[in-house]
Amino acid sequence: MKLWGGRFDKETDTLVDDFNSSIGFDARMYREDIAGSIAHATMLGEQGIISPQEAAQIVDGLRGILADIEAGKVAFSVDNEDIHMNIESLLTERIGAAGKRLHTGRSRNDQVALDFRMYVREEAGKLISLLLDLERVLLRRARENLTTVMPGYTHLQRAQPVTFAHHLMAYANMFRRDITRLEDCLERLDECPLGAGALAGSTHPLNRARTAELLGFARPTDNSLDSVSDRDFAIELLSACSILMMHLSRFSEEIILWCSWEFQFITLDDAYSTGSSIMPQKKNPDVAELVRGKTGRVYGSLVTLLTVMKGIPLAYNKDMQEDKECVFDAIDTVKMCLPVFTAMIDTMTVRAENMARAASGGFINATDCADYLAKKGVPFRDAYTITGRLVNHCIAQGRALDELSLDELREMSPVFDEDVYDAISLHTCVSQRKTVGGPAQEEVARQIDRIAAFVEERGKDA
Ligand code: ARG
Repeated sequence: MKLWGGRFDKETDTLVDDFNSSIGFDARMYREDIAGSIAHATMLGEQGIISPQEAAQIVDGLRGILADIEAGKVAFSVDNEDIHMNIESLLTERIGAAGKRLHTGRSRNDQVALDFRMYVREEAGKLISLLLDLERVLLRRARENLTTVMPGYTHLQRAQPVTFAHHLMAYANMFRRDITRLEDCLERLDECPLGAGALAGSTHPLNRARTAELLGFARPTDNSLDSVSDRDFAIELLSACSILMMHLSRFSEEIILWCSWEFQFITLDDAYSTGSSIMPQKKNPDVAELVRGKTGRVYGSLVTLLTVMKGIPLAYNKDMQEDKECVFDAIDTVKMCLPVFTAMIDTMTVRAENMARAASGGFINATDCADYLAKKGVPFRDAYTITGRLVNHCIAQGRALDELSLDELREMSPVFDEDVYDAISLHTCVSQRKTVGGPAQEEVARQIDRIAAFVEERGKDA
């Protein structure tokens, strides 16, 4: 008979058992479920709701079940629907009468809300630590490339010169925000729903602050209806994961471009590339492409959960059982993507000479030429037009701005002088861009120090 079978005259149809059960995917929350039950039983004992002996028996029994699950000795059953009832049934099987008292003052509704929160809390911590690993690699690669000049692009057209370090630090900043987004999610998640019962609390003298404390939460949740029907923490996690995947996907897209023959800015390590079954010359950036592809899958999870939640009345509804697979899949996906992506960045070869060559073409110093004139008193709009004409002239002749003689330059504007060549040299174009956030070496070094301090701060508690 089912744990809830008392009110029923018939067994459930096996089709319904299969359809209704979640043990196939929620078994992975066994640790959280057992920890939650241990805290609940401990509190019940302390409050005199069950005897201290019964509480101790329950806690012992649960510890034994945990050990057996970890040793692979436990087979869960669909008849027991979900991880919560599977463990409760096992407990009663093992310790008898005392086991039947565990569920006093509790419902699966507050139980599942708790387990899921604890699972998300644990996994968000792991994601943060994987992101910190990525940051450390980006910092190292940036330090190595402080003077590696490359073209900066807008519209994928060469625009102004930057350095590879500057470019990498753009991503380091995105991942810094991703870490803080996960931290924000953890902060709001830090309330314990246990004791909310099915929806309306309990008439037993539960000590909710105590279970919250035992389970490492800052405080109990404030409203029992909200406690059992809130999945914001999971939606926030999915949203943080989606944004983080969007960043990884953009980075992947650049990696894919950079290792094409057209760019040749980087070479991926053989261990992080794949070949083609037919074209012998191919070395493909499959890792980056898969990360880009898997991004869609994580977005899908976010949309799934938002949609599951959008029309359900308070409080718990069975629809909410659909909250788990999408969250598990997104977490698994991000956990697969981050380490392999980090290793790919860690091992890629930077082809500084090709970056520099690309930066020397494409009139990447045109803004600097206009700025040169503007600094000599020409209004910027006029300086812009003069430089545009020079670029046009160069394109017609297949030359670069710094290849024009002073006489040729002066034909366009008498303001040009010998010092123009230094002003529009690639080195000056980068080293003089010292504005906060700019690509000048000392400025990027400051950006690196800032993220390094951020990473180190968090590394302390890791
Ligand atoms: N397996 C369920 C879930 O994942 C647990 C909660 C069930 N509660 C209920 N009243 N049927 O949502």
